[in-house]
Amino acid sequence: MRLLFIGDIVGRPGRDIVCRAVPRLVAERKLDLVIANAENAAGGSGLTPDIYRDLIAAGVDGITLGDHVYRRREIVPVLERESNIVRPANLPDEASGRVWATVTARDGTSVAFFTMLGQLFMKPADSPFRIADRVLAAIPSDVTVRFLDFHAEATSEAQMMGRYLDGRVSAVLGTHTHVATADECIFPGGTAFQCDVGMTGPFDSILGRRIDRVLETRLTANPTQFDVADGDVRLCGSIVDIDPATGRATAIERVCVCDA
Ligand SMILES: [Fe+2]
Ligand SMILES: [Fe+2]
Repeated sequence: MRLLFIGDIVGRPGRDIVCRAVPRLVAERKLDLVIANAENAAGGSGLTPDIYRDLIAAGVDGITLGDHVYRRREIVPVLERESNIVRPANLPDEASGRVWATVTARDGTSVAFFTMLGQLFMKPADSPFRIADRVLAAIPSDVTVRFLDFHAEATSEAQMMGRYLDGRVSAVLGTHTHVATADECIFPGGTAFQCDVGMTGPFDSILGRRIDRVLETRLTANPTQFDVADGDVRLCGSIVDIDPATGRATAIERVCVCDA
């Protein structure tokens, strides 16, 4: 089976390119499943119920979030009700939303997915290593295809997670930095890995936000509105081929679709 994972969707430009490009990518690249990180989809931070519905209607089968999971509080009922969206698994047990989900790919394969926050240079969260053990133990053993979106700042921590889970999940792909890394590979145990798959949004920006606003605040300390930028919109992600019988990845390819 073939999975496309789309990196942090930022604001309307990111949503629009997902809605335009995903149906075409599904057909042209014969994708069986599309999962996307939507933590920045609403105005650059958070996710709303309407945007959740738009992304699902565009062909996104599963949605992950990150440190901005609750920035738009109206998403909480969606997190509690819907079966194809997950909050970071290493938040407190009381946090709203499911910690892992299964979706059925177009070839019939059941795919489990979850997301976790890194601990380095991030707000406090439980150990993603211990929580990964707990999540993987909870997923039914016959669900062999398992995917982790590791939402982390440090490449070292992402590599540690990839190596820790090698042979236990089909792929560990990173998000959060909004910059794609050129390290996609298959580890010896059959886990596809990439520190970060990059951003889906405007590249004429600082991580998706207007350059002038971000620089002004950085240089003067005066607060500004970090509006989402609008130029040079791209969809970034990675396509992973997985053997459904074993759950092992057989190929990984970085993708970057320009908004031409
Ligand atoms: Fe993000
Ligand atoms: Fe993030």
